Amino acid sequence: MDAKPKKSILFVCLGNICRSPLAEGVFAAVLEEKRLSEHFELDSAGTGGWHAGSAPDPRSVAIAASHGIDISGQKARKVNADDFSRFDLILAMDRSNVEELQRLAPAAARERIHLFLEFADGNVRDVPDPYYGGPDGFAAVYRMIRDASDVLSSRLAERMSVSRSGHASSTM
Ligand code: 4NP
Repeated sequence: MDAKPKKSILFVCLGNICRSPLAEGVFAAVLEEKRLSEHFELDSAGTGGWHAGSAPDPRSVAIAASHGIDISGQKARKVNADDFSRFDLILAMDRSNVEELQRLAPAAARERIHLFLEFADGNVRDVPDPYYGGPDGFAAVYRMIRDASDVLSSRLAERMSVSRSGHASSTM
């Protein structure tokens, strides 16, 4: 029996075609590996809407695929007002995304907005925008997201009292 509410996480970047779809896909894969998927709801969005409806950038699709993760079915969308009540955590890829989200969010939701890497491991760093760079940028972004997802998924699972087997703790 598992009556625990799911933790919902929205990953946010600027365009929702490079970093945040990768973060959603990688975090989902890490949860799957740890048998924690049933405890989480994930989505991603962009603060800008220019790419709404588009699949992720082919370079993000490729780096994910090279690690066995399929993000090709995702569709970009813009952050909307409902997101600030729907999601427990809103994790932004860089500090300009955090600023834009803080500007858009109602006061009550502001504490749910965090810089992704800082929230994962305490170090204040951006996931840099790889859009105008080459494939090395996407590999670096993948690695940062992967490491952060490993740490964050373990920390959240501990805080939610769900064991590595994915079942709710009997002491809760
Ligand atoms: P993302 O990358 O924010 O990681 O999805 C970008 C994608 C598109 C643009 C900028 C960043 N753009 O300016 O179109």
